[in-house]
Amino acid sequence: MPEPMEVQKGLQDVVALQSRICFIDGLQGRLIYDGYDIRDLAANSTFEEVAYLLWYGTLPTPARLDDLCRQLVALRSLPPELVALIDAMPLDSSPMDVLRTAVSALALFEPGETKPGPTSIGGAQRLTAALPTIIAQFHRRRAKLPPLRPRPELSHAAYLLYAILDRDPSPLDARAMDVAFILHADHELNASTFAARVTASTLSDLYSAITSAIGTLKGPLHGGANERVMELLDEMASVDRVESVVQAKLAAHERIMGFGHRVYKVEDPRATILREWSRRVGEERKNLTYYDLLRKLEEVVHREKGLYPNVDLYSGSVYSLIGIPHDLFTPLFAASRIAGWTAHVLEEYTDLRLIRPTAAYVGPTDLKYSPIAGRA
Ligand code: CMC
Repeated sequence: MPEPMEVQKGLQDVVALQSRICFIDGLQGRLIYDGYDIRDLAANSTFEEVAYLLWYGTLPTPARLDDLCRQLVALRSLPPELVALIDAMPLDSSPMDVLRTAVSALALFEPGETKPGPTSIGGAQRLTAALPTIIAQFHRRRAKLPPLRPRPELSHAAYLLYAILDRDPSPLDARAMDVAFILHADHELNASTFAARVTASTLSDLYSAITSAIGTLKGPLHGGANERVMELLDEMASVDRVESVVQAKLAAHERIMGFGHRVYKVEDPRATILREWSRRVGEERKNLTYYDLLRKLEEVVHREKGLYPNVDLYSGSVYSLIGIPHDLFTPLFAASRIAGWTAHVLEEYTDLRLIRPTAAYVGPTDLKYSPIAGRA
């Protein structure tokens, strides 16, 4: 029998690699991208500027940002073979399954002359630009919306809103979405980013790494939580039912989605910012129903479990008010986290070491093999 080994379940607190991209101070509730506090970035920058920061490690000059925005617009359209493949997918498919399959297929159909190198920043930009179009290509067919137009004047976030809703977003909605995209753009070694880096560490290509990441983001303990928060709000329906619904769930040992975090021991700073946007977007519509429910939910969950909100608590309320279908919340998360995923994959290529941990074996080692014919 092997010697017993200490196991860090879920790799909790294991420092797996060095990275310059993102720092989370879980005790102070701070999130830093490449040296810049998320609160400053959310107040002043755009998703495109943050993507530049994550990829290049420095803020862009106006000219470089312009170049990047133009480049992202130029890379939005999909190869016709991929459009045909998405159009052949069952209408009741999960949009995350569509996204995962389409990103994997995109690698096959990129036209030869523009195909980005398998480990290049061009690939990072191509995937970032293509994700909104993939999501919209599928959604517009099921929602019976007219074909997508290029709309080069729209930013990444506003283009995605137009593409899903088939109308131009109001300035407030467009900014709310841009801020949500900034907040979701990276988060150190979260599960999907780690999955992407593991794939890249085998010297596999960027498209494969991002396909791994999308499959990992899909789970409700990671990207799927805000959709579940909205189900909870629907179940509670009114502020006076929050207490009883939470008590019933806790008594049944169920988790309350949108609360708790592996790294933050205080409030997630992204939740602080999104709480404000939930209020602003609600006030503009004279509809604070979600906001009021969420405030009460926070109060009860903190009192009962001492848990703080995470990024997923308020994001769904913002998206819902804007009119985004709930099953597109996680694809939206992917359309912003793609900046961080690709930055991490590119970083992995520059400091490559195969990620290959070990397991503590707990099974037997000396069983006697019996040929199949002799087994009852
Ligand atoms: N509701 C009820 N209890 C909870 C919750 C919750 N949301 N989160 C943690 N706990 C309890 C858990 O039951 C456990 O209690 P006990 O020790 O009595 O068994 C204790 O807190 C520690 O939980 P854990 O699962 O060991 O902690 P973790 O670090 O693995 O959990 C988490 C992190 C995010 C998986 C967890 O907090 C959770 O399941 N939250 C709900 C899902 C959610 O909101 N996910 C979005 C995360 S933020 C977005 C992202 O980064 O992807």
